[in-house]
Amino acid sequence: MKNKIRTNGSLWKDQEDNPIHAHGGFIIKYREYYYWYGEDRRDNYYVSCYRSKNLVDWEFRNHCLTSDSPTMGYRVRTKIQLINDDGNKVNIERPKVLFNEKTKKFVMWAHFENGRNYNDAAIAIATCDTPDGDFVYHGHFNPFGYMSRDCTLFKDDDGTAYFISAARDNADLHIYKLSDDYMNVEKLVHKLWQGEYREAPAVIKVNEEYLMITSFCTGWDPNQAKYSTAKSIEGNWSTLKDIGDETTFDSQASFLMKIDGAVIYFGDRWGGNNNYLNSGYVAYKLNKIDEIWTMKYSTEVEFSENGIIFR
Ligand code: GAL
Repeated sequence: MKNKIRTNGSLWKDQEDNPIHAHGGFIIKYREYYYWYGEDRRDNYYVSCYRSKNLVDWEFRNHCLTSDSPTMGYRVRTKIQLINDDGNKVNIERPKVLFNEKTKKFVMWAHFENGRNYNDAAIAIATCDTPDGDFVYHGHFNPFGYMSRDCTLFKDDDGTAYFISAARDNADLHIYKLSDDYMNVEKLVHKLWQGEYREAPAVIKVNEEYLMITSFCTGWDPNQAKYSTAKSIEGNWSTLKDIGDETTFDSQASFLMKIDGAVIYFGDRWGGNNNYLNSGYVAYKLNKIDEIWTMKYSTEVEFSENGIIFR
């Protein structure tokens, strides 16, 4: 039996013993593999991808998006810019990828900034025919003119996808329904929690209920996560309730995932500007007890082919 004990908050390693650089990430399952995408700020990289059959061993696959990625415009007017005017890198943050059944494309949505400040607050889009190939970059845009920073994607059971992002200088959280091909926003379906400054959204569906966890807005420093539930993505979301402790056990959400029936929160323990490349990962178990969602602290997570043990 294969197993691996990972310490929460440390920089987890791949099967070659190299650090996994997939921060602010996202995991999808496609055929027999899980694919983990996330930020990689080394060299000219933006987004890297790792894959695993068992969530124990992670194989590095590709630097899917770099400053040298191929580019291609498309029907949405975007600005195609993978380096800024100084010749330095731009910022591509919190990349998320979904497979589109109709177009058979892997579509990446991420947060774009120019690398000098956070004033662009835009969505970056890229696509690929395979989960871990070289993504083609299609540029960045502001959805219906809105600012769009911390973000996530969510694919519902019927294939409808939603993009959720922080708008109005992070004051409000918007939910957009995507077009069928996942290449554009189709409709702004919600402006949530106006003036409550929610960031780092992560969504999952559990037993007919949608659960969203978000953080407050304190840059790289962790803060109290809150959650909300809804009967449908476009329906009413409950008022925010605390989950975890006042620092979310020293983390900020990256995504939520069901593994063997357990609902698991994955987060980043950021190193901040000075130590970003040492940012680590955490996984905490979520439980619903008497209608209330809770997050259980653990120092270690044992991933094994027979399941996950939190201690
Ligand atoms: C956080 C955000 C991160 C990153 C950071 C930069 O609030 O969640 O993704 O943008 O700010 O300070």
